Amino acid sequence: MNMLVPTRLHGEGKPVSVENLVKRFGTTPAVDDITFTAAAGRLTTLLGPSGCGKTTTLRAIGGFHDADSGDIRIGNRSVMNLPPHRRPTCTVFQSYALFPHLSVFENVAFGLRATRVRRSEIPARVGEARAMVGLEALSRRQAGQLSGGQQQRVAFARALVMRPEVLLLDEPLSNLDARLRVQMRSEIRKIQEEIGVTTIYVTHDQEEAMSLSDRIIVLHQGRIEQQGPPHEIYERPRTRFVAEFIGTSNLVPVRVGDLRGDRVEIEIFGGRLSVPRPTEPELTVGRELHAVVRPEHVRIAGQSESGVFRATVESRSYLGASASYVLRMSDGSSLRAALPAPRGAALLTEREQCTVSVDAERLYLLPVTA
Ligand SMILES: Nc1ncnc2c1ncn2[C@@H]1O[C@H](COP(=O)(O)OP(=O)(O)OP(=O)(O)O)[C@@H](O)[C@H]1O
Ligand SMILES: [Mg+2]
Repeated sequence: MNMLVPTRLHGEGKPVSVENLVKRFGTTPAVDDITFTAAAGRLTTLLGPSGCGKTTTLRAIGGFHDADSGDIRIGNRSVMNLPPHRRPTCTVFQSYALFPHLSVFENVAFGLRATRVRRSEIPARVGEARAMVGLEALSRRQAGQLSGGQQQRVAFARALVMRPEVLLLDEPLSNLDARLRVQMRSEIRKIQEEIGVTTIYVTHDQEEAMSLSDRIIVLHQGRIEQQGPPHEIYERPRTRFVAEFIGTSNLVPVRVGDLRGDRVEIEIFGGRLSVPRPTEPELTVGRELHAVVRPEHVRIAGQSESGVFRATVESRSYLGASASYVLRMSDGSSLRAALPAPRGAALLTEREQCTVSVDAERLYLLPVTA
């Protein structure tokens, strides 16, 4: 499916600034004092588990919820007192909210008919938006007769046709099967980059967030846990929640054994390992910490080969492109390890003894309380 993408249809987008936003339902805050900026022309993702306040934040930006306090500015202008249709935003809801008995054309044209766009211009505008999402062939079909993926395209075209300065997308791919989801996310990213529309994208899927975003804002219980570009969120999680929510992490209890210049020797798995000394947290000999160890930074070797720590294979799952293991270390702690491109015959089996090394340069220390 090839999409035709005109360049800079919307001009330069505007930044969206959310400042100290609070939204309560009853007495419980669904959004609890959050502040962030979605940069102009970039894709910013609100990522977090179910109930963390993503939709509530997006609806406040779109004008569908009144905030209890805080401010929302688009460009230099506060939009807090504007109703949804007066804001320069367009929202694609998770449910798509199409009119099932109207044709694709009428669904896409719907918003334009309520604006001052001349009637004679509407077919061209609709045609342009449809071409962007690869829907040229389906103009007359009723929306209710489309597949989930096609409905998603209509919903997207219906937003793009308005040429919004800010596009708000709430889990737009969640109704699609896994393969289509992966395909559509690269198409959305391509359109977004080409037209340069400021986009705020909501998802609970960390892989989707990683692959699409210029910047990720991780939400947890109505608060921002961490924000930054995808690689920073993955490589330098600042809290236990982020380390465990983004990808898979081992949080290994360790203790500071010795400090030497820019290195720190930690006691881990009943042995010692020299790792880079972080600027934070403050380290003193004897302090207990968590080491964040990604499964892909663990190397497993057979019993006879060299490795730093001894372990036993507790369980294994073979995934084709990789295999993952749960290892029991000699001090009793468990460690998840991922092995890329395994050769079936060479896989370790349950209860097999092995040696393990950990990439010390990628290991990351967190306070136990983080
Ligand atoms: N209209 C409402 N009335 C009362 N409580 C609400 C309302 N809308 C949301 N909430 C509550 O606010 C919290 C945040 O909800 P929100 O819909 O923003 O979560 P979410 O991050 O979008 O979750 P999901 O991934 O499940 O869509 C939840 O605890 C939810 O139950
Ligand atoms: Mg939601």
